[in-house]
Amino acid sequence: MIVGVPKEIKRDEYRVAILPVGVEELVQRGHQVLIQRGAGIGSGIRDEDYARHGAEIVDGPDPIFAQADLVVKVKEPLAEEWPKIRAGQILFTYFHFASSRELTDAMLQSGAVCVAYETLEENGRLPLLTPMSEVAGRMSIQEGAKYLERPQMGRGILLGGVPGVAPAHITILGGGVVGANAARIAAGFQADVAILDINMDRLRELDNYMPANVNVLFSDRHTIREQLQLADLVVGAVLIPGAKAPHLIRRDDLKLMKPGSVIIDVAIDQGGSVETSRPTTHSEPTFIEEGVVHYCVTNMPGAVGRTSTFALCNVTLPWVIRLADVGIETAVRKYPPLAAAVNIYRNEVTNAAVGDTFGLPHRSVLELTS
Ligand SMILES: NC(=O)c1ccc[n+]([C@@H]2O[C@H](COP(=O)([O-])OP(=O)(O)OC[C@H]3O[C@@H](n4cnc5c(N)ncnc54)[C@H](O)[C@@H]3O)[C@@H](O)[C@H]2O)c1
Repeated sequence: MIVGVPKEIKRDEYRVAILPVGVEELVQRGHQVLIQRGAGIGSGIRDEDYARHGAEIVDGPDPIFAQADLVVKVKEPLAEEWPKIRAGQILFTYFHFASSRELTDAMLQSGAVCVAYETLEENGRLPLLTPMSEVAGRMSIQEGAKYLERPQMGRGILLGGVPGVAPAHITILGGGVVGANAARIAAGFQADVAILDINMDRLRELDNYMPANVNVLFSDRHTIREQLQLADLVVGAVLIPGAKAPHLIRRDDLKLMKPGSVIIDVAIDQGGSVETSRPTTHSEPTFIEEGVVHYCVTNMPGAVGRTSTFALCNVTLPWVIRLADVGIETAVRKYPPLAAAVNIYRNEVTNAAVGDTFGLPHRSVLELTS
């Protein structure tokens, strides 16, 4: 197969969809790999690094979309990429179709096969989403530390305190992948940490392995309001799969918080867990409401492109290889997680949630390819 990797063009996106080791693996299996010149620059990977392992470096996205049977990306195709996509071409990337009717219509019209990272499901988990949650969770504390600094409009608090001065109090709403990763890093800073969840099994699990400076608490309205009075930093990390994030903090609740305290609302990509949150970008990440600094960047991992690229490619490569080796029709039969990942097959929706979101008919990819 010809596998193509274009340079990402979305604003503030520094990731790339393949590592040199991925190129080597594919080439060894007899595939041809085309990489757009400069595609890896944002992640510190040079064209020579790809070329040395067998990639052909091409200028601009056109040769990639014109020749590749399988295009591997990070972000959903943007409008300027849509006309380049060919019928039957396999696109393997994050799509998040439910958030864009235009993208869904464009992909349906293109006749491409859209295999979405975010719905690839294995043993009830979404393994291609996990590493980005790990990155965002760990990064939330790093960003929180920065915006608590006075020149960034924060309270002027050092997370770990110093001998004789209390450390910061950090409240983490949601104890899933983002929350647990945030808690581990916060604990490492020697902050005073509370992590809240509604799932008792999850709370027990967290309680077993979290360090002593992390309190594991049940998430209810009273506890949340109590925590807001203590918190210097709040991390919003809740998720109700397939639904908008619940607003656990309302505008009125912000009055309980200390001026200059910080909220990092990681759940902003699902609408946010704070009523006053609205999406921001890396170029302008924060705003202030009721005296509280809000950080609501929807693609946090993009800022640490190199770490995120490696974390993402570690988990996507095995699936890229499977798709390239056997082609889509065999792959969806041989590897059920890939069948779950196909959201659009040629001109039809194959993911029930996407179909239901837009009132479009949908059929399983197995039925369509039988
Ligand atoms: N902004 C970004 O760049 C970025 C990056 C990665 C992930 N995310 C988002 O972060 C969010 C969390 O992702 P995740 O991978 O940790 O999900 P997850 O499913 O692993 O964890 C979510 C947790 O929230 C808990 N929860 C649900 N309702 C709750 C409530 N009322 N109070 C407390 N906890 C509650 C669940 O029990 C679960 O443990 C998602 O919205 C995800 O899309 C954002």
